[in-house]
Amino acid sequence: MSLSRTIETPDIADALAVKRTPRKHVLDLDDFSQEEIAGVLESARSMKEVLGRDIKKVPALRGKVVVTLFYEASTRTRVSFEEAGKVLSADVINMAASGSSAEKGESLLNTGLTIQAMGVDTIVLRHPHSGAPYLLAQHLDKVSIINAGDGLHAHPTQALLDLYTVQDKLGNLEGLKLVIVGDVLHSRVARSNIWGFAKMGAKVVLSGPGTLMPPDLLPSSKSSARSQLASLVEVDTDLDRAIEGADVVMALRLQKERQNAGFLPSLREYIRRWQVTDDRLAKAKPGAMVMHPGPMNEGIEISTSIAHGGNSVIEDQVTNGVAVRMALLFQLTTGTSQNP
Ligand code: CP
Repeated sequence: MSLSRTIETPDIADALAVKRTPRKHVLDLDDFSQEEIAGVLESARSMKEVLGRDIKKVPALRGKVVVTLFYEASTRTRVSFEEAGKVLSADVINMAASGSSAEKGESLLNTGLTIQAMGVDTIVLRHPHSGAPYLLAQHLDKVSIINAGDGLHAHPTQALLDLYTVQDKLGNLEGLKLVIVGDVLHSRVARSNIWGFAKMGAKVVLSGPGTLMPPDLLPSSKSSARSQLASLVEVDTDLDRAIEGADVVMALRLQKERQNAGFLPSLREYIRRWQVTDDRLAKAKPGAMVMHPGPMNEGIEISTSIAHGGNSVIEDQVTNGVAVRMALLFQLTTGTSQNP
């Protein structure tokens, strides 16, 4: 199978005939039902209670082994998976491509087979190529795969922690208006959040420069080029209009490392039209939540006063990420969402 850096449609799993149920892997949220998402959020609530104890340790995954296998940089996702596994008493082994035999040319598949042969239970994979976790899920029959971000395609655990954070603050998700603003084209976070929030009954509006909107999400694209996600979102490139009445505003990082020439007229113009600022947030609902998956470019997609202001839940997102990842590790390893 060739892996591609291009934006994949959400049909990767179908194309590879990855077995979806009973749940063995977390690859994206497209195959999660509303009930299953609600179950993960409920389980995460119990895990958060564990994290609030003086001694943050339960024996739920004692004797289980989790490998975090990261071919891309990460702070939040990698550290929170490590913490999640350790709080549950799993043995967590962190492996970066750098310093591994990937540097000698070992393929992802052979790396996965090698790790599986060591008796590991779960592999948490981040990879620059869309579809990489699906490849391992297809060929490794003894381990669970969790997608910790693949190319431009999906970041389902980020979306689940975002859903948890909103539900935690606002009580429910149904009927909320979520505006996702910025570099949607390069954002796997946006794509997984569209699935998650739409499945939970929220309205999702995308805003940003037309050049940073994925063609498969645009209503103007030919129907054959549109993905299933297109029917779940509205697109409004005018942020001042899109943000009106929003309950939640999620700013996305301008992914400078993935920018080819020509996506932006200029950084100054981008900041002027699409930065989340106090003036813009005043058009959203009073008390609207501001989110960012991180890492932030403060002063570009989000002003410093908003990033660290009273509406920001950015640090809550990070905190909740540990609980949500505990819930997922527990569920995949034990086959149950019962509390540990
Ligand atoms: N949100 C997110 O995936 O952050 P990291 O790249 O730091 O893991």
